[in-house]
Amino acid sequence: MTDANHQHLESALDEQRTFAPNPAFSAKAHIKSMADYKAMVARAERDPEDYWSEHARNLLQWSRPWKQVLDWQPPSAKWFVGGELNVSVNCLDRHLESVRRDKTAILFEGEPGDRRSLTYAELHAEVCKLANVLATLGVAKGDRVAIYMPMIPEAAVAMLACARIGATHSVVFGGFSADALRDRINDAGAKLVVTADGGYRRGTIVPLKANVDAAVAQTPSIENVLVVRRTGHNVAMQSGRDHWYHDVMASASGTHKAPSIESEHPLFILYTSGTTGKPKGIVHSTAGYLLNCVLTTKLVFDMKESDVYWCTADVGWVTGHSYVVYGPLALGATVVMYEGAPNHPEPDRFWEIIARYRVSIFYTAPTAIRAFVKWGDQWPQKHDLSSLRLLGTVGEPINPEAWMWYHRVIGGERCPIVDTWWQTETGGIMCAPLPGATTTKPGSCTLPLPGVALEVVDKHGHPVPFGKGGLLIVRRPWPSMLRTIWGDHERMKQTYFSDIPGDVYFTGDGARRDADGYFWVMGRVDDVLNVAGHRLGTMEIESALVSHPSVAEAAVVGRPDELKGTGIVAFVSLKKGADVSDTLKDDLKKHVTKEIGAIARPDDVRFTDALPKTRSGKIMRRLLRELASSGEIKGDTTTLEDFAALEKLRDED
Ligand code: PRX
Repeated sequence: MTDANHQHLESALDEQRTFAPNPAFSAKAHIKSMADYKAMVARAERDPEDYWSEHARNLLQWSRPWKQVLDWQPPSAKWFVGGELNVSVNCLDRHLESVRRDKTAILFEGEPGDRRSLTYAELHAEVCKLANVLATLGVAKGDRVAIYMPMIPEAAVAMLACARIGATHSVVFGGFSADALRDRINDAGAKLVVTADGGYRRGTIVPLKANVDAAVAQTPSIENVLVVRRTGHNVAMQSGRDHWYHDVMASASGTHKAPSIESEHPLFILYTSGTTGKPKGIVHSTAGYLLNCVLTTKLVFDMKESDVYWCTADVGWVTGHSYVVYGPLALGATVVMYEGAPNHPEPDRFWEIIARYRVSIFYTAPTAIRAFVKWGDQWPQKHDLSSLRLLGTVGEPINPEAWMWYHRVIGGERCPIVDTWWQTETGGIMCAPLPGATTTKPGSCTLPLPGVALEVVDKHGHPVPFGKGGLLIVRRPWPSMLRTIWGDHERMKQTYFSDIPGDVYFTGDGARRDADGYFWVMGRVDDVLNVAGHRLGTMEIESALVSHPSVAEAAVVGRPDELKGTGIVAFVSLKKGADVSDTLKDDLKKHVTKEIGAIARPDDVRFTDALPKTRSGKIMRRLLRELASSGEIKGDTTTLEDFAALEKLRDED
């Protein structure tokens, strides 16, 4: 953490619009009113362990009951100690005894337009076969398996098969390079990789197998590589090491007796970036993790038996783990999975998919929403989106103007929007509206879920008054919290449990609560600028810029400034039809001054066609900061999605 002195963090975003739940929606929702929500919160506060146990009993199928709900030796938490269950049984086998047996589990659409669906019975058979294959290839409980796949059903099958036998999976996003894959395999000491020959992205083939070949040339722990045939293009197969998935699956048995697995067994490792260069392998547990996935999927998405649910995240990110695979499947939901880009072949691909499958719940990221805004209303307007009943966002603060567009153009002003705050480390959603109960405000993730002790504090751990900015922490352990950083428990302690006293978990985010107690996440604290002694969230200035009619997207960074400490540089991409000019630059500066105040007025506005982003869609402010301060980029660009965007900006220097 760069600077923990955030007790005077100033917040200038003053969003006044509110949206109360529609009574017809509330009447049918799992949580129907604010009174119900408050009763749940009070019950959880009275006895948190009892609260979580009740849900654990009701929502999960156990093979052995736990002896102790929580063993908390800060920073190490163990939940449901002594209990045992199998995650794959919870996601699959238990549905086979009901009508869900023949219910569609996965509705898959490939980027080229191929379609496939799997019922729960079919998905179960696939997972059993792969569990048998993995065991034959020498993968045992506790071994690590790397999964490097396109967004195809086999990615979920691989995760569930690992879970079934107690192998800890490490999904590496298919957009990562061979080097990134190699480092992650080596850090985890994975024994086997599940991959595909390739995947489709914007009409081209992502050469997954070739990347695996380059990576495993330098990973001594890998013994076998399983390859799904997806694209059919020619790939090298090394005899003895590489196996075609369809070959080994053809002879595998479709029955498999799932072992009983301890609550605290590591279900998966997922690598995420920290402030240092080395990615952190966040480790999640079996029972506590699954519990929060199921509970939040049910309450936040108000999931019902008849819903068709689509979370657009890739399984390479935590959202794909918790809200494509584990949460929805454990609830027996029908999940849409789409392989490719939202603008392939045209910018209406998502809306076409929603209309085709009659999607009722749609969960995506603000960065995608801003792209949709930029592409124009005509694309969603071509399609029938009347099946939608609930919308969600995750990944970064959503600018109120993007929220309003989502509400109006996609939600037809009828769908509640759940802005869900959480992190790789939290495993599941922590702060979000309950759609039948909570009045929403554009840009706020509203209120913590029951049982989640979220607070805004100063660097000493003291709560700050409503209206003041501070540091976002979680006061008590929760079931789906990270258990450790793989191979480096000390780093886990340093990163999350050392900046703020009191054995509290520090999220790394800055936030404030408004007069109603609503949470407004202002972004990472290292994205907070100190301008002439005033602290401003970069996101707030960005929101102001995005509320200008010409702006599609904006990223704000600081650069050293002799007089003010930090100067503000805004990188801005414009909507179609808007023209780059000095007048517009001045206009934007004035606009920010008007929206927030002179303190937030950008010193420099720079126009760009596209902002440099990670493959998960996060703007790489670090690169922009370097560019803004020194005019060059020396840092690591391996996670950059589109290098050309950056090159262009550099050329303009
Ligand atoms: O800064 C917060 C932001 O994303 C961070 C977590 O990123 P990651 O671990 O990649 O997980 C993303 C998906 C859960 C948080 O520390 N963030 C995530 N959701 C929101 C958000 N910021 C504001 N509002 C959100 N809804």
